[in-house]
Amino acid sequence: MGTYQTPRGTVDYLPDKTPLWQTIERTARHIFELYNYQEIKTPIFESTELFTSSIGGDTDIVSKEMYTFLDKKGRSLTLRPEGTAAIARSYIQHALHRKGKHHLLFYVGPMFRYERPQAGRFRQFTQIGVENIGSPDPACDAEVIIMGIQLFKTLGIHGIVPQLNTVGCPICRPVIEERLKQFLESSLRALCGDCQTRFDTNPLRILDCKKSSCIPYFSAMPDIRQSICQACHDHFDQVLTYLDTHGVTVEINPNLVRGLDYYNRTAFELVSNHLGSQNAICGGGRYDSLISRLGGPSSPAVGFAFGMERLMALVDTAIPPVPMVYIGCLDDDHYSYCFSLAHQLRDHRIKAIHHRDALSINGHLKRASKSNAALSVIIQPDGQSATVYASGQITLPMTDVLAHIIEHTPQTPMM
Ligand code: HAM
Repeated sequence: MGTYQTPRGTVDYLPDKTPLWQTIERTARHIFELYNYQEIKTPIFESTELFTSSIGGDTDIVSKEMYTFLDKKGRSLTLRPEGTAAIARSYIQHALHRKGKHHLLFYVGPMFRYERPQAGRFRQFTQIGVENIGSPDPACDAEVIIMGIQLFKTLGIHGIVPQLNTVGCPICRPVIEERLKQFLESSLRALCGDCQTRFDTNPLRILDCKKSSCIPYFSAMPDIRQSICQACHDHFDQVLTYLDTHGVTVEINPNLVRGLDYYNRTAFELVSNHLGSQNAICGGGRYDSLISRLGGPSSPAVGFAFGMERLMALVDTAIPPVPMVYIGCLDDDHYSYCFSLAHQLRDHRIKAIHHRDALSINGHLKRASKSNAALSVIIQPDGQSATVYASGQITLPMTDVLAHIIEHTPQTPMM
């Protein structure tokens, strides 16, 4: 029998990669804090109906990619494929609108989609997302986009282009769809089966088809902006003006409709020119009627999510190791000094390891260097003194060792 492997489309992150993960997550939390966003945590599985009625039955996510199962009582549950629907559910369930008009929320967690795995596309992936709930103001759309860009810049990622489009509102959507259908009617038979079905059920979704045989037919598509109502025009213009005022250059992508049905007006993606086909690291948009459609009060909202795995591929910052102290003894009888010195250092938030076996000085120093220790302490055979090796070496009475190390070693930052 072969050895067990990760299930297809999933990955392990080993200790050489997890510091980068932590840095990204910490940076995201820090940026969200600057904008006064607060964390929300929801379950990893929800009732299937929540996703079918919010993301939309014609989307690939709902029609092909959900991990759905029956529990022991026969209830249909689904591993969450994204975070927004669950946040909307939670907002309604806990009547957050009664606790304030405006809610700024963020979340971090695994999502699940049964997709065909490839570089940057997994079946379990982690999203970090924000939801700005309670305001129809185009300034909020611009603010979440700026927040995403600031996050990526802070992580040293360049070459990120915000692509924007508008997908209209319930008033102008029928006009958009009609124009789209008129344009596609003559080529309908050349399009894939999904596109043909969506022609009748959800024409806008056709633009989300990724099949190379269909994409050429979308190139001369009438620009959605020519079909939207005046209010949607004004909204889009104001988003662009806010972004322009902030010095953000955007690309208008008239075919960007996003893979989820709950969007209205602004739809956007932050796209990297350094990733291959899965070049969208971040996607989002406005979803003014999702919460009311799920049974909540009218609560306009806008948000985004980015994929941790795609971001990991772009950040190549070398993470500086946390300075560490190595402690060893030359005589087994003095091991208890190593043990207690290490604990005293940790009490002072200094990272420390101690070696159990008595070794020669050279033996310890080799081990210390293998562990990347910034400073090594060897307890001397008299048990009364210790030698500290850093750039130079100094032998001190045991009573002074702790104070000396504290003075010369930076504390480990709190997470
Ligand atoms: P989404 O575009 O489906 O939007 O996903 C957001 C991001 O999650 C993508 O840009 C990508 O980085 C990452 N992602 C998606 N699928 C995968 C995958 N299979 N493997 C790796 N990474 C992936 C949403 O999920 C919306 N809920 C975003 C949003 C929040 N809209 C408003 N608020």
